[in-house]
Amino acid sequence: MFRFLAVCLLSVSSLSYALPSITVYGPTGAERPSGASSGAEPSATGSDPGSSWINAYNAYNDVQLQPPPLPSPMPATTFPITVPSQAQNMPGLSIAQRGDFWGFSIEMSVVEQVMGKNGSFIQVPFLNLLAAVAERAGSVRIRVGGNTQETATLVDSLPDNAIIEKDKTVDTAVTNTAQTPTLLYTPELLYLLSNVSALVNAKWYLGIPMNDTSHLRLQIAEAADAILGDSVLGYQVGNEPDLYANHGHRPPTYDETDYFNEFGVVVNAVQQDAKIKSKNKLIAPSVQGQWTPEDVWNTGFLDSYGSSLDVIAMEHYPEQNCAAEFPNGGFGPIQDPQTVFPQYLTHTSSQTLVQPYLNTSFIAQQLGKEFMMFETNTASCGGFPGVSDSFGSALWAVDYGLQMAYSNFTGALLHVGGQNVSYNPFTPPPTNLSLFDQWTVGPVFYSTLFMAEALGTTNTSRVVDLLANDGNEFTPAYAIYEEHALARIALINYMNAQDGLGSYTVSLSVGGVQIGEPNDTPAQVKVKYLLAPSVSEKDQITWANQTFGGRFQADGRLSGTELVQTITCNQGANTCQIPVPAPGAALVFLSNDAQASTDPATVTFSTTAVTKAIETLAIPSSALAKSNGHSGKVPLSGTSKGSSGGATALGVPLSLTFASVLMGALLLVR
Ligand SMILES: *[C@@H]1O[C@H](CO)[C@@H](O)[C@H](O)[C@H]1NC(C)=O
Ligand SMILES: *[C@@H]1O[C@H](CO)[C@@H](O)[C@H](O)[C@H]1NC(C)=O
Ligand SMILES: *[C@@H]1O[C@H](CO)[C@@H](O)[C@H](O)[C@H]1NC(C)=O
Ligand SMILES: *[C@@H]1O[C@H](CO)[C@@H](O)[C@H](O)[C@H]1NC(C)=O
Ligand SMILES: *[C@@H]1O[C@H](CO)[C@@H](O)[C@H](O)[C@H]1NC(C)=O
Ligand SMILES: *[C@@H]1O[C@H](CO)[C@@H](O)[C@H](O)[C@H]1NC(C)=O
Ligand SMILES: *[C@@H]1O[C@H](CO)[C@@H](O)[C@H](O)[C@H]1NC(C)=O
Ligand SMILES: *[C@@H]1O[C@H](CO)[C@@H](O)[C@H](O)[C@H]1NC(C)=O
Ligand SMILES: *[C@@H]1O[C@H](CO)[C@@H](O)[C@H](O)[C@H]1NC(C)=O
Repeated sequence: MFRFLAVCLLSVSSLSYALPSITVYGPTGAERPSGASSGAEPSATGSDPGSSWINAYNAYNDVQLQPPPLPSPMPATTFPITVPSQAQNMPGLSIAQRGDFWGFSIEMSVVEQVMGKNGSFIQVPFLNLLAAVAERAGSVRIRVGGNTQETATLVDSLPDNAIIEKDKTVDTAVTNTAQTPTLLYTPELLYLLSNVSALVNAKWYLGIPMNDTSHLRLQIAEAADAILGDSVLGYQVGNEPDLYANHGHRPPTYDETDYFNEFGVVVNAVQQDAKIKSKNKLIAPSVQGQWTPEDVWNTGFLDSYGSSLDVIAMEHYPEQNCAAEFPNGGFGPIQDPQTVFPQYLTHTSSQTLVQPYLNTSFIAQQLGKEFMMFETNTASCGGFPGVSDSFGSALWAVDYGLQMAYSNFTGALLHVGGQNVSYNPFTPPPTNLSLFDQWTVGPVFYSTLFMAEALGTTNTSRVVDLLANDGNEFTPAYAIYEEHALARIALINYMNAQDGLGSYTVSLSVGGVQIGEPNDTPAQVKVKYLLAPSVSEKDQITWANQTFGGRFQADGRLSGTELVQTITCNQGANTCQIPVPAPGAALVFLSNDAQASTDPATVTFSTTAVTKAIETLAIPSSALAKSNGHSGKVPLSGTSKGSSGGATALGVPLSLTFASVLMGALLLVR
């Protein structure tokens, strides 16, 4: 029996009327140096804290690649895009998508580093980053799992009040590798998730271990159902089972039928476990490509287990860098990042990535199941230094996300490994750097904001790949229809400027496509740009002129003045001229409504230090809007940390009741 269950039920039910008081510290609880102001804006340049040891970790590598030359032949750099204003006139639209399409997959073994030490010690930058997505998307989805979920075991307690303990340090995304640390964790891990969900609209995916189906360990689902309730979205059963044999976790003969049978064992056990309340939240088969989805479907998997499944999941990385991580692992020669870089700077990448899944996205739709890319990123085995942490990867992730949405995936999760991978959307500082404002935000994190704003919060956005510019691979474009009407256009420019060449200008025309359809180009459009000086840039990345800062400079809040460009259209000619810099991506808002629905300007999170070791935190007004029934225009400051936000600025007292949460800010004190 689990002593904690009774306690948890109490805390979950108490949530409905009051938020318990908790303390939120920086990563080590360290006090900020006196005089340091949270209002100081990071300059958008890298700042190495001065030690070369730090570059030994891939998360902070110094590799800067050469941008590829301009394509030859060059694509047209002025071209028209003509789209109907009404969805009914646009063929090929996806199913309706959610703004939280891009979420995160956090390797279970790095939870303490990334999320917090326990339920009352949460990483503020992590909260801020989740809030940045949730305030744009309405919510954020996070999976805690990976290879390490397979051997994870719930125990009552661990030495030194740790919530996780592993017997072997494998600080990487261990995809494609045989090494898997055995992991012990305590219920406190789930309280940590629960407490995060109380502050940000974050929902969780967890994994039921599958290393040993003769001795199942279902405790994670039993405990999470009790502790997390509706905040847990589902339980993955099997992480890349098609690699079990390669990794030596199953006999070499292990095949799809063996997985089918083992999965059945878990399904039956879940059915019979009275402590698991939600029996139909399973996620499978999470194959990575060794087996095709069809190989699994042909076992009768969906017919047999469809009713237990909530999400049909796949896991896939376009590339692997395993030879770098395991030089003697039989992976062949180490690949040169410079050589692979151009593969990411083309629309062909995203099109190729979704192709093997189109049949299954159709099947999932027919079955009414979600279809998710459950773990992905630029390259497994840690990514490619210089590629995975470059602006090029941000453009790639915008294109890949929109391409998956167009292809009727219903979500995708970017993997977060440890300190020694280069693809992380966010990385906490190494443990002996303790300040909470020394996080590193990776380029792909910006892509999740772009995607969230492109899709918005209404759950009605439908996406179509426009195959713009005669389908040129360097200039992809998508249209997003929301509530039946054209709302936004996403334009990507993979080219890197050279001798003043490379940027392009779209002549956008709305309406006038079908005979009898009126011209419908608005008087003006709003545009937000995702920009950096080059595709190989690692630090100076901006979204609408705001940045999280370079390496070791982030506290999870955007800084700088948000810049939304207004472009005046020529309604007589039915055209708007939209420039797209090389490199860059533009999100064009066709109406004020199209932008208002994703405008995060009413929201702020602050980590202003008010007393020793205590940070303050403002609650997103979007969450407040739901709780107090008002419009969400809470009188907090703007989005940037340089502005006058923060609980102290509002004069919120040090101890708070739920009522003051409704006022718009919460200071977390015990
Ligand atoms: C939570 O973690 C912090 C930092 O390690 C520690 O000081 C505190 O005692 C922990 N709280 C509990 C309840 O274990
Ligand atoms: C936060 O975590 C602590 C355990 O450390 C727990 O006592 C408390 O109830 C949690 N709060 C919520 C809202 O779950
Ligand atoms: C599965 O993992 C558990 C926990 O780490 C371990 O005790 C057990 O021996 C493993 N079983 C197999 C068959 O590897
Ligand atoms: C789609 O998958 C189903 C189930 O495996 C299979 O029968 C069918 O042939 C596949 N269709 C295509 C076009 O691959
Ligand atoms: C990080 O990974 C690289 C391979 O990419 C490896 O050579 C190096 O030893 C690892 N560093 C640490 C600190 O684990
Ligand atoms: C996505 O689903 C819609 C609705 O069923 C369908 O019309 C469209 O062809 C699908 N898109 C792709 C790329 O399969
Ligand atoms: C952090 O740890 C590394 C490796 O153990 C060491 O070389 C470095 O000096 C430490 N840095 C600080 C600021 O303590
Ligand atoms: C969008 O869908 C999510 C998940 O089903 C739901 O929680 C949310 O309330 C929906 N939002 C709207 C505006 O309907
Ligand atoms: C962009 O942000 C910078 C840095 O915060 C600021 O100085 C500049 O004024 C902003 N640009 C515009 C046009 O708002």
